[in-house]
Amino acid sequence: MENAQHDRLLIIDFGSQVTQLIARRLRELNVYCEIHPYQNVTDAFLADFAPKAVIFSGGPDSVTREGSPRPPKSVYDLGVPILGICYGQQVMMHDLGGKVVSGEGTAEFGRAYVSPADERLSFLNGWFMDGDGREQVWMSHGDHVAEIAPGFSVYGTSPGAPFAITADVDRRFYAVQFHPEVHHTPNGKTLYENFVREAGFSGDWTMGAYREEAIRKIREQVGDKKVICGLSGGVDSSVAAVLIHEAIGDQLTCVFVDHGLLRQNEAEEVVAMFRDNYNIQLIHADESELFLGELDGQSDPETKRKIIGKLFIDVFQKHADTIDGAEFLAQGTLYPDVIESVSFSGGPSVTIKSHHNVGGLPEKMGLKLVEPLRELFKDEVRALGRELGLPDSFIGRHPFPGPGLAIRCPGEITREKLEILRKADAVYIDQIRKHGLYDEIWQAFVAILPVRTVGVMGDGRTYDYACALRAVTSVDGMTADYYPFSHDFLGETATRIINEVKGINRVTYDVTSKPPGTIEWE
Ligand code: XMP
Repeated sequence: MENAQHDRLLIIDFGSQVTQLIARRLRELNVYCEIHPYQNVTDAFLADFAPKAVIFSGGPDSVTREGSPRPPKSVYDLGVPILGICYGQQVMMHDLGGKVVSGEGTAEFGRAYVSPADERLSFLNGWFMDGDGREQVWMSHGDHVAEIAPGFSVYGTSPGAPFAITADVDRRFYAVQFHPEVHHTPNGKTLYENFVREAGFSGDWTMGAYREEAIRKIREQVGDKKVICGLSGGVDSSVAAVLIHEAIGDQLTCVFVDHGLLRQNEAEEVVAMFRDNYNIQLIHADESELFLGELDGQSDPETKRKIIGKLFIDVFQKHADTIDGAEFLAQGTLYPDVIESVSFSGGPSVTIKSHHNVGGLPEKMGLKLVEPLRELFKDEVRALGRELGLPDSFIGRHPFPGPGLAIRCPGEITREKLEILRKADAVYIDQIRKHGLYDEIWQAFVAILPVRTVGVMGDGRTYDYACALRAVTSVDGMTADYYPFSHDFLGETATRIINEVKGINRVTYDVTSKPPGTIEWE
């Protein structure tokens, strides 16, 4: 199994919305962990994985229901510490001889306060220290524990959960009713820290170690064969490319498809960085004529996306075919993508937007995948990028969508509009950087609107495009809030754009959150 030389923690996922956050908290403590859905965790799996500790996640089901999710019984005989969270606590109590009840009056959702019981517990070091000795926690449970299992004692209670914190000290089993991994349990990380210390983790999972291991694995997987990597100019594919290059040098060729929908100077910057700084073999495929030609006259958002997606695959394949003997395709797949694809809570059933990716390409081209970032979260990819020496200015860049400026140009795309949009976007981003706001914002861009409006400049009438500024804060792009710029900032930016960008005479600010809006305009 991978990472066999590290101490490993196993998170058994019972379907909680926030299981990934448990992994996050542990990674912050330099502990290597993997999330596996409970269905996959069999006796054989446990023996093979050999975890040094186990965490049971929360979940939406009720242990009182027949057939509800369970871990294999052998998990309790591994002799390693186990932490059960919410549904995970109930599972543990139920399996070990306690009692869980559901029904009226047992539910508790939202903020709650846990107070200490009499006895002290090393798992709770650093808790109950402040003024009134209570800790704020986040509860989200329908059922609750009515009777704890033999061997367990109570170490914390809340008004709605008399067994908020329970433990069997001898067996090192801990079970809490609340969610220590979420933001609303402000001191939650301390519990994870105590738990992994108790389990004997040395905290050796660093980016330096990850880099060395990833390089070794890439060499092992690829041997002397060739790898193709599609570069988008984004952080993920760039970090993947640099890492793979470090592992196999000239066996890697990158293909950068320029669809003519990139931002100002973007293509030049990407090419300069990879070809000049890293000496990576790079095919810079300028296919802008093709893309803009096919998009000509198209105004429907989904049609535009589909045209770009299909052309991208065709063009990528055409260029990849020129690389003799390539057997592998590198992708910057991240851990959240991996989890999403195995999650049993399912994804959204309605297609809001057809996302642009190269899925399906490997089978079509008969290529095997190299995915060296599969175990990382986004900010870990950034940390790895820093470790590999990529410049900070590059690593901290806002995400940029595959279809590029096409989805920031509602309605028909013309070269004229794209030029105006590039200039306005450059001024806006310059403003944001000058005011020191870039890193506080998840994503910021200009959209050029398909309307012209009347204005007056000097003594003359203007009839030019209106544009919208967008800036959002977000954790993962799934939900977002608009960024609360000051009026001074907005006024100054509007003035600069109108003065510096010919073709725009009106600037608006988009104050829609997601939902109900989306981040991009199309
Ligand atoms: P929306 O507009 O759906 O965007 O709220 C959420 C995040 O996804 C990015 N985005 C894309 N990224 N291919 C991508 O690689 C796409 O087709 C695509 N569409 C949207 C968007 O920029 C935001 O960060």
